[in-house]
Amino acid sequence: MALSRFLQLHNSYYHGTSSSSFPKTAANLALSSLIPHFSPSLPSFSRSCTASGVPAAQLASDHHHHQHLTSPELVALEYADLNLSYKLVPAQAPDWNQVFGDPTLPLTVDIGCGSGRLLLWLAKQNPDVRNYLGLEIRQKLVKRAEVWAKDLSLNNIHFLFANATISFKQLVTSYPGPLMFVSILCPDPHFKKRHHKRRVLQKPLVDAIIDTLMPDGQVLIQSDVLEVALDMRNQFDEVEALKHMDAVNPTLLCDSEGWLLSNPMGIRTEREIHAELEGSRIYRRMYLKQI
Ligand SMILES: C[S@@+](CC[C@H](N)C(=O)[O-])C[C@H]1O[C@@H](n2cnc3c(N)ncnc32)[C@H](O)[C@@H]1O
Repeated sequence: MALSRFLQLHNSYYHGTSSSSFPKTAANLALSSLIPHFSPSLPSFSRSCTASGVPAAQLASDHHHHQHLTSPELVALEYADLNLSYKLVPAQAPDWNQVFGDPTLPLTVDIGCGSGRLLLWLAKQNPDVRNYLGLEIRQKLVKRAEVWAKDLSLNNIHFLFANATISFKQLVTSYPGPLMFVSILCPDPHFKKRHHKRRVLQKPLVDAIIDTLMPDGQVLIQSDVLEVALDMRNQFDEVEALKHMDAVNPTLLCDSEGWLLSNPMGIRTEREIHAELEGSRIYRRMYLKQI
């Protein structure tokens, strides 16, 4: 994908604006916050040496051959020798007695919880009846959410730095209480087809959710990107053990395409607020596990 198209997708997803209406410098700044080492003009190539040990001059001359590459590809190329696994090791389950006041309460897990504010709000509303676990791959967000949980003196919430795709099952099966609710709300889109494997919801995670969910447990999925919502929907619609909620709860209305008309959580996620402010629609489905 050409860089301009990448910027366009990035800006329309994260800022609700196209690259043509978004100042280039601001777009570049936004992109560098997404990809820390990205520099559209590649100034690091002119410095003495590169991370891979390839002389900068060589990379600079290679630059001409790399112009067709996207910025994430260029970053991968420069940092290839770091061989980062991006948290490919499943997270260790904590001592649940240490992290929750009562680790036998029904558990809600938010996969890709971002800032964690949604869970903090829910945990505050439901003390002593539910526990809340946020799984997030960005460690800084996890640390900040834990500080907030402590500030609020909540003993029914915990945040874990974990790649949910590979950690969910191990974590949830070690939890002493039942798994009552799982949410995957506005997951990262990873637009390019060859990056779909980076999407958080993969078949093993779907299987793990179905295996560990209690009878009558629920799954909520949502996205402001139709393609991503459809990808998740297709994976859950085909699970025999799940029924869509509108079949059992007539107050949960769907449009003609089967998307829920309203948010059943009582609060919007941060991404949801941004998306709706930008005029985007949220596509959501909510499932109930039958025995
Ligand atoms: C677009 S944000 C949405 C955050 C929040 N759910 C919301 O709706 O505001 C997606 C979040 O999922 C996290 N994420 C992506 N892949 C993940 C993974 N494999 N495991 C855990 N979190 C992940 C990202 O770091 C990011 O914070």
